[in-house]
Amino acid sequence: MGRRKSLLNFLLPITCLSMLVGSAQSLQAAAVPTGDRRVHLNLDPAERAEFLSEMRQMLASIQGIIAGIGEEDRERIIEAARYSGNRMARATPASVRARLPKEFREIGGPTHMLFEEIVIRAETDDMASLAELTGRTMQNCLACHARFRAD
Ligand code: HEC
Repeated sequence: MGRRKSLLNFLLPITCLSMLVGSAQSLQAAAVPTGDRRVHLNLDPAERAEFLSEMRQMLASIQGIIAGIGEEDRERIIEAARYSGNRMARATPASVRARLPKEFREIGGPTHMLFEEIVIRAETDDMASLAELTGRTMQNCLACHARFRAD
């Protein structure tokens, strides 16, 4: 009896534990999407190439801004940010803009405006608040990347 009890004491927690782990795993499997759920923008190959080249320019802007903050070089920050501001927004062909979903434009437009805000605030603000503003700008990069794909 004593022997049986100790075997139960040993097996029961293990059984419970493995059941718990098993159900946690199946919960996790249900929560993780099986495929890529991002929305297609349906750009044709030429539009897509142009779009992605603008994206790489935005990354270059972020790089220049961060390096400029590190060096406390206001001119460098301004020059880097200006590339991805209104100028880039205006450069988007009307044919492409018309086809972009509203939700996409609602993230994209303000992102270019945030670069313009960096241009203006780089004249006067301290480096820590410029870094904070850059971090906030990059939340838009993340938000849009999570939702859309260029093909
Ligand atoms: C309004 C939407 C949107 C915003 C805002 C946005 N992106 Fe993108 N970006 C995209 C999409 C869509 C792709 C293509 C993703 C795909 O097809 O897998 C992309 C791709 C890229 C790429 C890959 C380029 C290549 O050659 O493949 C880089 C780099 C990039 N983005 C940088 C940035 C940075 C940096 C920011 C913010 C400063 C930013 N993006 C903001 C939508 C956005």
